[in-house]
Amino acid sequence: MPTDSLLDPAPFTLGLHGLRVLLVGGDMAAADYLLRRGALLHVINPAPDAGTLALAAEGRLQLDCRAFIPADLDGVRLCVAAPGPTHDAAAARGVVVGALPAASARTGRATLVGAGPGDAGLLTVRAVEAIRDADVVMYDKLIGPEVLALIRPGARRIDVGKRCGRHAMAQGAINTLIVRHAQAGRHVVRLKGGDPFVFGRGGEELESLRAARVPTEVVPGITAALATAAQLGIPLTHRGTSRSLHLITAHGSDDRLPEHDWTALARAGGTLAVYMGVRTLPLLAARLLTAGMAPDTPAIAVENATLAGERRMPGTLAGIADAVAAAGLDGPTLVLIGAVVALADAERGAPAIENELAA
Ligand SMILES: C[S@@+](CC[C@H](N)C(=O)[O-])C[C@H]1O[C@@H](n2cnc3c(N)ncnc32)[C@H](O)[C@@H]1O
Repeated sequence: MPTDSLLDPAPFTLGLHGLRVLLVGGDMAAADYLLRRGALLHVINPAPDAGTLALAAEGRLQLDCRAFIPADLDGVRLCVAAPGPTHDAAAARGVVVGALPAASARTGRATLVGAGPGDAGLLTVRAVEAIRDADVVMYDKLIGPEVLALIRPGARRIDVGKRCGRHAMAQGAINTLIVRHAQAGRHVVRLKGGDPFVFGRGGEELESLRAARVPTEVVPGITAALATAAQLGIPLTHRGTSRSLHLITAHGSDDRLPEHDWTALARAGGTLAVYMGVRTLPLLAARLLTAGMAPDTPAIAVENATLAGERRMPGTLAGIADAVAAAGLDGPTLVLIGAVVALADAERGAPAIENELAA
């Protein structure tokens, strides 16, 4: 079959009666062509045109408004898509491929992908698929080389965390760049540390993409608090010990410690996971002590959790700020505070901690 010219006028009739056909992207004309030849059609398209939506509403095809995943090829005989990773996936499974003209095949879109705490083993399957499919990947400075190695050759890499003087690219400029690439018909992956929606400014990026009507998918990632706790064998909630988990930032928009409701946090008796806390830790600890939290509440600071240079500083609420300052932690550091921190060794035999727990 001359698959490359599937959508060109052909000198013969192509019969697809009863054949399961997958159309990835494309428009109503492509869908209609395949339907008229008798295909049992499944369309994958995060931003289908009105005609394709109408065909789906009439029950003439099955439509999924999302990105392609390899499992879509299960049981498929012919896959019609733009040349690229989808073709490769189909060919690898022995599925016949047909090429869509690039212009009709690609609707630009964006995927906000959580890359987890750094260890590539903690990426989700969906994150890996999105990274491999991307035409453009815009990534932060905390994204490690193993994760970046998943980007396909030929895709554009943009390091938006790269320091220029002391400043990374401004958030407004990042928002604009994602939209521009997507509007040019590309699949843009915005690769972010941890989870995009936990202190990651993913919300602002999503707002800007929504305003520009760019189809956007969000792939969650393992946030630093979860990864750090798992690493140490600390259950973030524990029957009888901690009934709540509070993710708080210690870094306000003006570079100061934000004013949380310290009394409520101290009274809740749950686990506190403090992001971006190294610089303001002395003040944060003082606020919690003033609010009534016990000075001997166990605490631990973990720098570069899950990465090669991981460092752990255990202590108590009263002593953790001095321990962190003495150790000179300056990489990404997560501080856990709460009774559950004392369970680190007992629960899972966490690797030796550098300091003795202070009394
Ligand atoms: C701008 S916030 C981004 C948080 C991210 N979106 C998440 O869900 O983990 C950066 C902060 O996350 C924490 N963090 C991220 N990765 C970390 C890691 N590997 N080890 C320890 N803390 C980490 C640190 O508190 C760091 O200052």
